Amino acid sequence: MKINRNYKNLNESYLFSTIAKKVQEFSAKNKNIEIIKLGIGDVTLPLCPAVIEALHNAVDEMSQKETFKGYGPEQGYDFLKNSIQNYYKKNNVSIDADEIFISDGAKSDLGNILDLFDKDNTVLIPDPVYPVYVDTNTMAGRNIVFIDANEENNFLPLPDENIKCDIIYICSPNNPTGATYNNEQLKLWVNYALKNNAVILYDSAYESFISEDNLPKSIYEIEDAKKCAIEFCSFSKTAGFTGTRCGYTVVPKELVFDEMSLNNMWLRRQTTKFNGVPYIVQKGASAVFTDVGQKQIQENLSYYKNNAKVITDTLDKLNIKYTGGKNSPYIWLKCPDNMNSWDFFDMLLTKIGVVGTPGAGFGKNGDGWFRLTSFNTFEKTTEAMERFYNLLK
Ligand code: MLT
Repeated sequence: MKINRNYKNLNESYLFSTIAKKVQEFSAKNKNIEIIKLGIGDVTLPLCPAVIEALHNAVDEMSQKETFKGYGPEQGYDFLKNSIQNYYKKNNVSIDADEIFISDGAKSDLGNILDLFDKDNTVLIPDPVYPVYVDTNTMAGRNIVFIDANEENNFLPLPDENIKCDIIYICSPNNPTGATYNNEQLKLWVNYALKNNAVILYDSAYESFISEDNLPKSIYEIEDAKKCAIEFCSFSKTAGFTGTRCGYTVVPKELVFDEMSLNNMWLRRQTTKFNGVPYIVQKGASAVFTDVGQKQIQENLSYYKNNAKVITDTLDKLNIKYTGGKNSPYIWLKCPDNMNSWDFFDMLLTKIGVVGTPGAGFGKNGDGWFRLTSFNTFEKTTEAMERFYNLLK
């Protein structure tokens, strides 16, 4: 038996597991310090009432012989796919229901989609970036080329014609930097992908945080994107499903490479390796798209956006440079006094009990930067930022 030796090229543990372990060790020894977590992007508000009602009703359906459900369609129930289709329509994007695949979240699909691509492809990944893109390709032993996202390009790198690649990752609004591409910039990426016969894996998990009207919420708002892009989206941050688990991936039928349809291949992959998201969860997710559901999730999103403002107001007062916060739940700040990001992490943890995410965990360009999330409660966010201000003023 030969093991997959590519695992030797991974960091010892996944970024957020490393942080959780560090925090756990610190709090075990310092029980008197109340830790406030602005690290991993995990939501704190409960599911909205419309979702809860739909979940309860679905549980009741499972209790009756007439309405009980066994295996569902692996790619998701029509009622949810149709709701998603209508949601896209509101942004003037037309998607067929069979181009939508329901899953347990964007992270799984972003990793699993790699089943469709040869190991010998070259992958282009912005640095810094959500570690899943790098780690999943490292596991498969693919060649990764990084493109710099930094202060000079406002963390929004554009295509470099000198780089040849086959698979391109774009996350907008970006995790971790919060930077968001506009239509013109995304069009450059679409043109570049088409020219290189490459596919874009577009992570739009944070689209619901976009506040500025003129910014695209889906790559399919860009002409010809359906010829080169797969889009991944999630209910995690939009509707508080981090623990409930539901997301979706759009694989347009126009995506045909080497006479093979990516849509057919993904259907084949999912029907073989996946038995679908629970009916109950899909019922809950579809309630997000009702009028009342939309209103309720907007209230929750506004709550987090207000937390983001508490964070950015504090950074403004301290004259600390940052991106994000406006169209994103993440605030990406420059560590004061040229500190490196792990030292800054240790300082915040040990001196004020505040947990963030060191930028270096997202790539080399992240060093010297630090990520805070707006997903904690208002009270805890305010308290954390008071401690932060008092430490750094
Ligand atoms: C993050 O904090 O970057 C996210 O919560 C991670 C994820 O969505 O898997």
